[in-house]
Amino acid sequence: MTVKILIDSEHHRGEVDPRLFGSFVEHMGRCVYTGIYEPDHPSADPHGFRGDVGALVRELGTTLVRYPGGNFVSGYRWEDGIGPRADRPRRLDLAWRGIETNQVGTDEFLGWAERAAVTPMMAVNLGTRGIQAAADLVEYCNLPGGTHWSDLRHRHGREEPYGVPLWCLGNEMDGPWQTGHLTAERYGELAAQAGRAMKLVDPSIELVACGSSSHTMPTFGYWETEVLERAWDVVDHISMHAYYEEHDGDRRSFLASGVDMDQFIRGVAATVDAVAARKHSGKRIGISFDEWNVWYQSRFEAAGLPDIDVAGPRIEDTYSALDAVVVGDLLISLLNHADRVRIACLAQLVNVIAPIRTDPGGAAWRQTTFHPVAAVAATARGHSLVTRVTAPELYTRRYGDVPAVAAAAVADPATGRVTAYLTNRGDEPATVEVRYRGPGTLSAESGRVLVADQKGPRDREAAAGFGFTTLPVSAGTDPHTVTTTLPPESWTVLAAR
Ligand code: AHR
Repeated sequence: MTVKILIDSEHHRGEVDPRLFGSFVEHMGRCVYTGIYEPDHPSADPHGFRGDVGALVRELGTTLVRYPGGNFVSGYRWEDGIGPRADRPRRLDLAWRGIETNQVGTDEFLGWAERAAVTPMMAVNLGTRGIQAAADLVEYCNLPGGTHWSDLRHRHGREEPYGVPLWCLGNEMDGPWQTGHLTAERYGELAAQAGRAMKLVDPSIELVACGSSSHTMPTFGYWETEVLERAWDVVDHISMHAYYEEHDGDRRSFLASGVDMDQFIRGVAATVDAVAARKHSGKRIGISFDEWNVWYQSRFEAAGLPDIDVAGPRIEDTYSALDAVVVGDLLISLLNHADRVRIACLAQLVNVIAPIRTDPGGAAWRQTTFHPVAAVAATARGHSLVTRVTAPELYTRRYGDVPAVAAAAVADPATGRVTAYLTNRGDEPATVEVRYRGPGTLSAESGRVLVADQKGPRDREAAAGFGFTTLPVSAGTDPHTVTTTLPPESWTVLAAR
């Protein structure tokens, strides 16, 4: 198979927002307890957070972390998680049937985020609570002092406001599984009222309204329209969530997950723009893709309700090489919509469908999916370039004909570096000629490739032996081209200057 890719530095979509490399910490399973936080762990810092996990979070390049849920937030009383730890209640969490000990709460999380140099993105409970609790939490976090909640923060040892810049107005409120699930009309009203109160406390914050939990929801499209009709003036972003898995051994469709993500993003952008047009508004609402990943959700659904426990494991998917290639393909989709998607969170960060796993009291390790995420976070700086891919099509059961090769490219005006990301979705090698139009010439540097092993074991040993290998790249027919051969079912990073 022969493929041509044209990258033109003159045609870009604007800056890649660093918030695209976000992640998500939910009070779910072992994400918090024995994930980021384990006071008895040998690597724990004076605040009880694991140093080995912190080092991997830095290596992953995470820029932003959403907290504390997820479905968990829809039953959460944030006041339970502040003040002296001995006085904090143990609560039953209805979302994941866990006992929440509240040993980690707002101050602990925000302190960790500050030390980890990640932007916190907090969610408020619009399921079982509402406007007042949401405004109070903004006051606790962001007001300098002189009020009940900000003074309480002082008494809890934190004088400086945290200045949390981003807030989610609830979580997946379109989903019948959500505690306090609402119709689009009622959620739109509530989001408008809660958002207005929160911005009266701190007008500098940005707000994310819940969009659809997936584009397969029966209300998809209708939901976004009705919510934005009501909350337009206060919200800055609308959320999207999507999880992918291999269904019935259909590897080919799974490898084309980025095609589905592209279509979902285009659908949400068009819906948002239609509301803008009807309102005669020049406001540009961004997209916060604040949950995305590979998740074998069908296995989780088949397992039924878990027993009630304290921080017992929940959805600790172990990923294969194939899953890592798919995560790479999804990252290509996010980069290709960088003009619209301003925030994205790989769900989640540790243990729960996560790139990082831990043993309680023991090691922290990288899953296969860690590698593409870290590679993009480390290199995708600057402008998202428009790429033109001329490739044969492959037939997939779920998406019909799809391009055999997907590509995204980013150019950093500060360094002149161009980085291209390529997925070969097919099961034969693809000879690729990359032509670059722009200042300077494209000189061949070797690429780095992740290959989906056909046998694809999903275990810890397989993950430990998995990673990038070198991909030879040669000069093309003129100084503006390079050629390389992408292995079947692979994901590649090509850096050129
Ligand atoms: O990330 C796991 C769960 O998936 C989140 O709690 C929820 O928002 C989504 O359905």
